[in-house]
Amino acid sequence: MTNLQDALAQNARAVEETLDRLLPLEECPEARLMEAMRYSSLGGGKRIRPFLVLSSASLFNVDRSCALRAAAAVEMVHCYSLVHDDLPAMDDDDLRRGRPTCHIKFDEATAILAGDALLTKAFEVIADPKTHSDPHVRSDLVLGLARAAGNEGMVGGQMLDLLAEKTALNIPEITRLQRMKTGMLIGIACETGAILGRAHEASRHALRAYAHDLGLAFQIADDLLDVEGTEVEVGKKTKKDSASGKATFVKLLGLERAREHAQLLADQAMQHLEIFEEKGEPLKQLAQFVIERRA
Ligand code: IPE
Ligand code: IPE
Ligand code: MG
Ligand code: MG
Ligand code: MG
Repeated sequence: MTNLQDALAQNARAVEETLDRLLPLEECPEARLMEAMRYSSLGGGKRIRPFLVLSSASLFNVDRSCALRAAAAVEMVHCYSLVHDDLPAMDDDDLRRGRPTCHIKFDEATAILAGDALLTKAFEVIADPKTHSDPHVRSDLVLGLARAAGNEGMVGGQMLDLLAEKTALNIPEITRLQRMKTGMLIGIACETGAILGRAHEASRHALRAYAHDLGLAFQIADDLLDVEGTEVEVGKKTKKDSASGKATFVKLLGLERAREHAQLLADQAMQHLEIFEEKGEPLKQLAQFVIERRA
């Protein structure tokens, strides 16, 4: 895993620099908004989604600076989702990435606006010709990201997640919820490289299939960490899901079977990458990392 750790760290640095450039702090009366956007997107996080964008882009020899812009855009959507997820009306959390959440550091209204602005900035970035010279490619990126982030994807999943605190769900229902809430954004992160690289349908299909399994494995690992991790390790409050009575794989299957299920999904995810031969290695390693991580 050392290679993967190095690659993750190197990509995280590059994404940090890109985000820093895309979100400049200028002197203006509304500077507080930019401060909150920067606070919520810089200086933390595992940067898994950008890693997926960059690794899939490198399968198709995409220009690195274009891939970095797309990676930063996907991370902006993710960071916005965390800011809103932590709000009092949602999970009501005061700790994120080892620091006070955005609404604690600033205030609720600023956190709502910072989330809104990160989401819209993401679309501004991918719609910009600097991300790709071909307008068809850019519109495919916009379409894919919008679908993944909206009511049929992440936001729809967040709605189901709130309802899951009050309703008993079965395994297929939890699977659907988690695929929407977490899997869809991971899916478009994986597919973005193929879109930028104008890859053949077979490659896109393989990446979609990989992401389908990886996304679910990722959320099961998050739910396991909620039970087994410590606040210091994961940088956010733990033991929240059981306290809210939320339906998760861990609640339904228990720790051991949930862990087995995550491993099964990770193995399945890796198998979908066979067509890329050794070039698929970083993405394969990531699948194992996602379920073994302690943060
Ligand atoms: C946390 O995502 C939110 C979920 C979708 C489970 P990450 O675990 O990727 O959070 P960061 O970006 O590393 O902080
Ligand atoms: C949040 O899921 C997923 C999104 C923000 C879309 P969680 O509520 O489980 O994420 P954490 O545990 O707060 O990071
Ligand atoms: Mg939540
Ligand atoms: Mg949460
Ligand atoms: Mg969680």
